[in-house]
Amino acid sequence: MSDEIVVPSLLVLPPKLMPIIEKFNDYRFFLIEGGRGSGKTQGIGRFLLYLCEKKKIRVVCGRETQSTIEDSVYKVFVDLIKTYQLNFEIMKTKIISNVSGSEIVFKGFREQGSVNIKGLEGVDVLWIDEAEAITKQTLDIIIPTIRKSKSRVFFSMNRKLPNDPVYDFGVENDKCLHITINYTDNPFCSQELNDEATRCKETNEIDYRHIWLGEPLDMSDNLLFSAKSVAEMSQIEPMGEVYRHIRVIGIDFAAQGGDFCCASILDKCSPTQWKLHPQIAWQDADPMSSIGRIVEIIGKYHPDFAILDCGGMGFVVHARLQEMGVRIDGFDGATNKGVPFEYANARAYGYYTLAEYLRNHQILADKNDILEKELLSIRFKYQSNGKRIIESKSDMRAKGIKSPDRADSLMMAVYAIKTNVQDTTFLMTTTNPFKRINNSRW
Ligand SMILES: Nc1ncnc2c1ncn2[C@@H]1O[C@H](COP(=O)(O)OP(=O)(O)O)[C@@H](O)[C@H]1O
Ligand SMILES: [Mg+2]
Repeated sequence: MSDEIVVPSLLVLPPKLMPIIEKFNDYRFFLIEGGRGSGKTQGIGRFLLYLCEKKKIRVVCGRETQSTIEDSVYKVFVDLIKTYQLNFEIMKTKIISNVSGSEIVFKGFREQGSVNIKGLEGVDVLWIDEAEAITKQTLDIIIPTIRKSKSRVFFSMNRKLPNDPVYDFGVENDKCLHITINYTDNPFCSQELNDEATRCKETNEIDYRHIWLGEPLDMSDNLLFSAKSVAEMSQIEPMGEVYRHIRVIGIDFAAQGGDFCCASILDKCSPTQWKLHPQIAWQDADPMSSIGRIVEIIGKYHPDFAILDCGGMGFVVHARLQEMGVRIDGFDGATNKGVPFEYANARAYGYYTLAEYLRNHQILADKNDILEKELLSIRFKYQSNGKRIIESKSDMRAKGIKSPDRADSLMMAVYAIKTNVQDTTFLMTTTNPFKRINNSRW
């Protein structure tokens, strides 16, 4: 008899993953991120099956959406149970340990547009695989529901954007163990997967870095908006009923001939979301006739809050509107007054806010190719003092990129929401009737 400690073969994981076992008692959250084939799913699946045999626990495997159980990690468990001949009862929608009575269930958090937390009571372990798909809203709702003492949350993901909500949550949390792992760290990665990675490396460096090295996609060329978040504007549905109607208008005034003036009207359509009306864009060389247009738009749509670009020629237009008694705020993209320190100016703050709203599915819009194209032309960079700044319209023009007038007006409307309109995001009251912020405004 040898006195060697033998780890069951089920628990032989890539060395980089071993801390999830060794430090299981020291952390509440586990963020395992990296590229494809690194053993993330296998590693966590194996450890959870082991835990389920040792002690009676309730495990929930969650995803943002799950149309069928095939979308989930169910098959990973089933294959492991068969390979290692583990004593589990495999049912249609759940897996039960015949040894301890532990239960593993599978669920999509988002159902019919809203976040459903049913089944999360009494959870010992929540595992979210492919956690890059989890929205900020979902994360904010589910985390507080995992309250049982000694409960644990595992996230496994391949980063998509520099600021994936789950990634941000994990790296900023000192109760979270964070492991980055790639296929090159996985001694069990199959030859097929290794070959596929090599082929990808040779043909497309950007894809390789994202898919196989787990780097977030949009870092590479400093685009502020991901194609995915922009496309999703026209694909999502409101999540919940609106309890207080609010309307905001952002107006970009054309700085030069050839540019467009554009008005973006946003209506609150759920506790957290805003619906964009078809944008109103016009070209007019004469500022006075644009003033007429703006007065007409405000008279017709009665916004609770309106904001107008007051840089350059916009300054005169804004001043004239104020003289006329039209209540409209000025947006000075170049100022840093009232702007959080990470941003060089209000334009950068507005655009980062818009990007965050899009990522969180807070803006709904009809399909609008021009707006989408403009958003996808917005680039950011860091100043030497580390502040974020957005490429200016004149720099864009110098590169032959059209002035993003529609994107700018939407950005201003979102900026107005962020800085002026009380956005009681998660207040679930229904007692608040239709109410203008200030009826006597106009
Ligand atoms: N502990 C392990 N033991 C044996 N094979 C493993 C182990 N972990 C991963 N593998 C192999 O590596 C492959 C990739 O692992 P997977 O968990 O699917 O990676 P990821 O979820 O990171 O994409 C699996 O298909 C499996 O063949
Ligand atoms: Mg996986």
